[in-house]
Amino acid sequence: MSLSTGVNVAYLFAAVCFILALKGLTSPKTARYGNGLGAFGMVVAVVMTFVNRHVENLDLIVIALACGVVVGIPAARMVKMTAMPQMVAAFNGVGGGAAALVDIADFSKHTHVGVAEWVQVAVVFGVIVGCISFSGSIIAFLKLQEVMTGTPITYKGQQAVNALVGVAILALGGMVLATTSSPDLAIMAGVALLFGVAFVLPIGGADMPVVISLLNSFTGLAVAASGFVLNNVLLIVAGTLVGASGTLLTRMMSQAMGRSLANVLFGAFGKVQVSSTGTGTGGGEDRPVRSASAQDIGTMLAYAQKVIIVPGYGLAVAQAQHTVKELADALTSKGVEIDYAIHPVAGRMPGHMNVLLAEADVPYDQLKEMDEINPEFPSTDVALVVGANDVVNPAARDMQGSPIYGMPILDVDRAHQVVFLKRSMRPGFAGIDNELFYDPKVTLLFGDAKDSLSKLVSAVKSA
Ligand code: TAP
Repeated sequence: MSLSTGVNVAYLFAAVCFILALKGLTSPKTARYGNGLGAFGMVVAVVMTFVNRHVENLDLIVIALACGVVVGIPAARMVKMTAMPQMVAAFNGVGGGAAALVDIADFSKHTHVGVAEWVQVAVVFGVIVGCISFSGSIIAFLKLQEVMTGTPITYKGQQAVNALVGVAILALGGMVLATTSSPDLAIMAGVALLFGVAFVLPIGGADMPVVISLLNSFTGLAVAASGFVLNNVLLIVAGTLVGASGTLLTRMMSQAMGRSLANVLFGAFGKVQVSSTGTGTGGGEDRPVRSASAQDIGTMLAYAQKVIIVPGYGLAVAQAQHTVKELADALTSKGVEIDYAIHPVAGRMPGHMNVLLAEADVPYDQLKEMDEINPEFPSTDVALVVGANDVVNPAARDMQGSPIYGMPILDVDRAHQVVFLKRSMRPGFAGIDNELFYDPKVTLLFGDAKDSLSKLVSAVKSA
């Protein structure tokens, strides 16, 4: 077998690893294995690229690899679970930027000897999409890291201005193809960077996970374009896989939030807070709510037959995953049947709750998806809602005109009793009140979720 055939076989092997990795990532049980397999495929691909090609500037490449390792490993190991979306934004941004730089370098190198037209088209496409992904991801990162405001930044006529910038990029792209001039390419790249910023500014911080997923698919496409430019089949395959999976994830997230992608991108969601906000029992509304002590709620839980735990964003904020598992264990030892209801957009990123609960070694078979668990609420004694709000708000089902109307929810209101663990009467991400808090069968336990859960563990043990 010749060297180039061997390399192509290795690339095919790496491509199969990537596809199986995506399959593995579809379930919490196999996600770790999927991640490892994808990383292994990537190592094979990188090593074979060095074997196959005459490598120029090896010293610079080694320095770049060392920088990536020195920054990437500690960043990935030290990041808090709640900060994961911004880390994905940062990593995605550098991916898009790298793809654009590869295209720019290749284009500049070949300007004077003439480049095949289809390669030029791939370069223009890769530079535009890679630059948008780079600058858009940086704004997403800054919003999520709260370095800049998370509220949508809007002004009159903004969409028209953005559309004009988009048209200007296309015109510049046409000009680059006509002149094959590097300065023209640089101007086009600059305007694409500007567009990435302008595109993300009007989108609210809490919608960033959807935007990051969309930008992730852009990065995939830019990488695929680099594959055409460098004549590297594996880059085309890997880029296309990222592009396709990012697009699907973006669609699934928008659907699970009951909103169209256009609404996420252009709706400036979160600009107007429709809720009254308040703190402490009773909060900003005059209507009374029922709150109880941890001791009373612990006794209620200990004497239940079936409890469904509904985790949400507050569980992640409080880092209460281990304490919730402790409570579940205490209840199980008293003979209570326990399940966890997982809403697809609970928290702030896809799979947020699965990852947290897996970290606490919650058995996978206790994690029930929304469609599977919803029919069980009517036969459940207590739905224990830990730091979730929007994903259980019946307004999504009943109140036309509500910003979350149409979002599928977990039917906790159909359980016999509902307990909410939260700190105040403040609303969740969508900024709207939850009528369920005023329902007579609902009890609120105010406080940080981790503290409240610890108190419940003691109360259950002593019941
Ligand atoms: P939210 O509706 O945001 O509610 C979170 C609740 O947690 C709040 O009511 C908050 O009330 C409480 N909380 C916060 N910190 C707490 C703490 N330390 N201890 C106890 N409670 C705490 O969360 P959700 O129900 O998980 O819904 C997720 C929302 O995010 C949905 O609207 C979804 O569309 C959106 N979203 C999700 C994603 C993905 S992919 N998951 C992406 C973008 C947007 P207090 O402040 O009173 O404590």
